[in-house]
Amino acid sequence: MTTVFLNIKELIQVRNSNIKKVSGKEMQHLPTLKNAYLVIENNLIKTYGLMEDIPHFLNVKTIDCSGKMIFPSWCDSHTHIVYAGNREQEFVDRINGLTYEEIASKGGGILNSAKKLQATPEDDLYIQSAKRLEEVMALGTGAIEIKSGYGLTVEAELKMLRVIKKLKDKYTIPIKATFLGAHAFPSAYKKNQDAYIDVIINEMLPKIANEKLAEFIDVFCETGYFSVEQTEKIMIAGKKYGLQPKIHVNQFTSIGGLQTSVHHQALSVDHLEVMTTDDIEALKNSETMAVALPSCSYFLSIPYTPARDIIDANLPLALATDYNPGSTPSGNMNFVVATACIKMKMTPEEAINAATINGAYAMNLSDEVGSITKGKKANFFITKEIPSYGFLPYSFGSNVIDSVYSNGQKI
Ligand code: NIG
Ligand code: FE
Repeated sequence: MTTVFLNIKELIQVRNSNIKKVSGKEMQHLPTLKNAYLVIENNLIKTYGLMEDIPHFLNVKTIDCSGKMIFPSWCDSHTHIVYAGNREQEFVDRINGLTYEEIASKGGGILNSAKKLQATPEDDLYIQSAKRLEEVMALGTGAIEIKSGYGLTVEAELKMLRVIKKLKDKYTIPIKATFLGAHAFPSAYKKNQDAYIDVIINEMLPKIANEKLAEFIDVFCETGYFSVEQTEKIMIAGKKYGLQPKIHVNQFTSIGGLQTSVHHQALSVDHLEVMTTDDIEALKNSETMAVALPSCSYFLSIPYTPARDIIDANLPLALATDYNPGSTPSGNMNFVVATACIKMKMTPEEAINAATINGAYAMNLSDEVGSITKGKKANFFITKEIPSYGFLPYSFGSNVIDSVYSNGQKI
C-alpha cells in the first residue's frame, strides 16, 4: 500500500543520510523541504521531494496537505507512564508549602506510588498505562522509553515490566523498557540498604534478563536516594546482563553520578537541573546523551537544565517528558519543546532536533525514527495550517497537531 502526501507546506527534519545525533552548533540547523511531497509504502518512508519534481504515481492513495506541515514523530526517551492512580494530594501539599523532598521523607513520593502499584492487579495497571500511551501518541509521540521503578519488590517490578512488554506487543510505536528497581529504598530496607541492592542484583536482574523484559538499567542517583557507589554497583551488574545504563543524575544535587555514568558508557544521563562546569566537562568526548526534562522543572519549580551551557560546549542535548505521577504528570512533548524554547533559551531548531533525532539516539532508535529519512518508520504527524514550524513552540498550550501516523497508519 503506497500513500503520497501532497503539497506539504514544509516537511521538517529531512535527512538524506541517517545521522545518529546532532551536537552544539549543528543543533541550530533544521533541514526542511518547502512545498514538498512524501511517499510512504506500508510502514516505511519510501521517498520525498519537492512538488515541482514529483513523479507520476499510479495506483496510490493521495492526501492533500496544503497549508500543513509534516514533522517526524517526537521521540520521548524518558518516561514512567506505567503507574497506578495519581498523587494529586501531594500536588496540593506542595502548593501549601511542602517540598518534593519533604513529602518523600514522610513516606510520600515514590513510595506512595509503589504502595498503590503493588496493590493494583496487572490487568488494571495495563489499562491505566495504555490510556496514557494512547494519550501521548495522539500528541505526536512516535517512540517512547518506559521505566519500571514503582514496584520496588521482585513481584511488582516484574509486573511493571510485563505491562511494558504487553504495550510493546499491542502498539505499533517502538517502545524501550528500562529497569529502575533502584528508584527509592523501600521502607523495610531504609536501615539496610545493602540488602535491597542485593535484591536488585541477585533477584530482580536475573529474572528480568531471563524473561528479556528490559533493554536498559536506570538508578535514581541523588542525595537521599542512591549514592554514586551504589549506582555504580547496580550499573555494573546491569551491564553484565546486557542492560545499558540510562541514569537519573543531578536533579537536585551534583554528586558525581554523571561522571560515573559516563565512565560506564551510559547511553544517556537525564535531568541535569544542577550542573557544574566539571559535569559539563565530563560529557565532552563521550557518547553519552544529555537529556533535559523541562516539564519536571516546570511542575516542581526547580531550576531548568542549563541547555545553553550544554549546547554552547558543543555537546548534544535531548528533550523528554519524564511523564510520571510525582514530578511530571504530563506527557506532552509539544509542551516540552515550547518550554525548552521559553525557559531554557533553546531555539525552535535546537528544540526540535533535541526532541526528534537526539531523543531517538537516547533510546538506541536512531536507525528507525527521529527524522524523515528513506527507510525509517512512517511515524510522523501532520500539523494544522500553521505559518512556520516555530509556531509550534510559540503557540504553547495549543494543540497544532491535525493527525498522527504510526507505522504508516493514521491513528
Ligand atoms: O524522574 N526523580 C526520580 N524519579 C522521577 C519522579 C518520581 C516520582 O516522584 O514519582 C523523576 O522525576
Ligand atoms: Fe524520571
